[in-house]
Amino acid sequence: MNKQLRKAVIAGNWKMNKTPEEAKELISAIAPLVKDAGCEVIACTPYVDLYSAQEAAKGTNIQIGAENCHWAESGAFTGEISAKMLSSMGVKIVIIGHSERRQYFGETDATVHDRVRAALDAGLTVILCVGETLTQREQGITDELCAMQTKIALNGVSKEELSRIIIAYEPVWAIGTGKTATAQQANEVCAAIRKTIGALYDSKAADGITIQYGGSMNAGNAAELLAQPDVDGGLIGGASLKPGDFAAIVEAATRG
Ligand code: 13P
Repeated sequence: MNKQLRKAVIAGNWKMNKTPEEAKELISAIAPLVKDAGCEVIACTPYVDLYSAQEAAKGTNIQIGAENCHWAESGAFTGEISAKMLSSMGVKIVIIGHSERRQYFGETDATVHDRVRAALDAGLTVILCVGETLTQREQGITDELCAMQTKIALNGVSKEELSRIIIAYEPVWAIGTGKTATAQQANEVCAAIRKTIGALYDSKAADGITIQYGGSMNAGNAAELLAQPDVDGGLIGGASLKPGDFAAIVEAATRG
């Protein structure tokens, strides 16, 4: 497996933080710090921040993404946003299947699949989140669970479309808790997910897909996590709201 074949991607997931004005300030603060990044740099923001974040990111190497999208193109889905709406405003990336969506908003593997389909159909790149709870880890079903989530989400996704899929392995017990998976744990599961991709597609697809780790990644632990052979980047929550910390993670990814 050749890590150099893959693009390293550091993406911030801002979650439900920042007003449009604050988004502009945050992007403007991050931009000069990451301008020489040797990896892709993405900030996924709340819907209402997308426009001001895009404006602030113009002329920089920061790409702006969304945190979710609906599976239908339009219709009676009060409060939802379609993939087409995102692409029509120039958004190219969307997170789908985040564990907070699964945990608090009834997201299932089936709806994750449908949202992935809609996002791909609208031309978006998807950051697909998978990961186990602490109970599932203790039950020894982490690899199977991640394989199942991956297989259901990618059902019907062609090999060509796979180039617009990034997978983020996010153990639920490590999100926002300050508990990071050890570098070895992160690498083991990322490697298992890569194996699943190999079985679903082929070894070239497995070698080429970017698999991120997410869950309390920060300026202090990023280098060790990102040095792992199967960890190709990070999906960053809390630390993505702090320009210096986020830039330090980008720097760690640049060093690989
Ligand atoms: P934290 O980095 O705050 O643990 O969040 C991780 C995450 O959920 C990114 O999607």
